[in-house]
Amino acid sequence: MSTLTILVTGGSSASGIAVTRALGAAGHRVFTVGSDDVRIKAAASEAGHGATPLLCNLTSLESVQELAATVNGLGVEGIDGVIHLVGGWRGAKGIEDQTDEDWEAMERSAVTTLRNVSRVFYSQLEASPHGRLAMVSSTTAAAPTAAAASYAAAKAAAEAWTLAVADGFSRAQSGNTGNPDAPTEQHSAAVIFVVKALVDAAMRKAHPERRFPGFTDVEEVAAAAVGLFEQPAAALNGQRILLAT
Ligand SMILES: NC(=O)c1ccc[n+]([C@@H]2O[C@H](COP(=O)([O-])OP(=O)(O)OC[C@H]3O[C@@H](n4cnc5c(N)ncnc54)[C@H](OP(=O)(O)O)[C@@H]3O)[C@@H](O)[C@H]2O)c1
Repeated sequence: MSTLTILVTGGSSASGIAVTRALGAAGHRVFTVGSDDVRIKAAASEAGHGATPLLCNLTSLESVQELAATVNGLGVEGIDGVIHLVGGWRGAKGIEDQTDEDWEAMERSAVTTLRNVSRVFYSQLEASPHGRLAMVSSTTAAAPTAAAASYAAAKAAAEAWTLAVADGFSRAQSGNTGNPDAPTEQHSAAVIFVVKALVDAAMRKAHPERRFPGFTDVEEVAAAAVGLFEQPAAALNGQRILLAT
């Protein structure tokens, strides 16, 4: 496969570094995007493989449009993949103390960022012969707890949005558009990775006594992201892929 161009959106955390490094090691050109200049540059440097750090507040549609123009200005005609990692977390004791502030924060980080990147890059992902969009959801979206109500509801909304993107790809590429010239082979896919919790080497080092049962190592998420570009789109599109053990 030729070199693909992939955006890791929300790339500053341990998962972002692992995903960026693995995609770079697989030979892809990677742009890793964060809202803090220092953190995203450090993350790109730690990931290596020539990853390019880019600054963008993904909660702003205008900023994401500027991000697309920036990437375009760097000689990229179209991107092939978006691995979306912005999530956030808010919890409470139960239903009654779920605050508006927490809901708005979850909606912004888990849903708005995903809506923005997928709306802005949709046509590029649909045009790419290997277009892929992936986001990471939580097991709580399908099995919500009262304490995590806002978080689970936002993640469920993000999952629904991702499945809608998958439907868009499917319709555009199944000859179901009324356009006789539309391609018939599925080549773009939107998927949901599902984890319970993430663990990384620093967490294991800081807590050698803990076993992290049911946690997913960020390296597993990274391998799954690389694998997306090695599997047929038709087998992936609209899938909810459980990475939790
Ligand atoms: N961690 C877990 O245990 C767990 C459990 C279940 C699901 N997940 C999901 O897995 C994914 C990855 O998890 P994570 O904990 O690594 O992610 P995260 O810390 O929630 O987000 C990843 C990065 O996104 C960046 N970011 C936040 N707001 C942004 C914005 N407005 N614009 C641009 N970048 C922004 C942050 O870096 P900057 O602040 O430097 O920009 C952050 O390091 C998330 O979707 C999360 O919900 C995680």
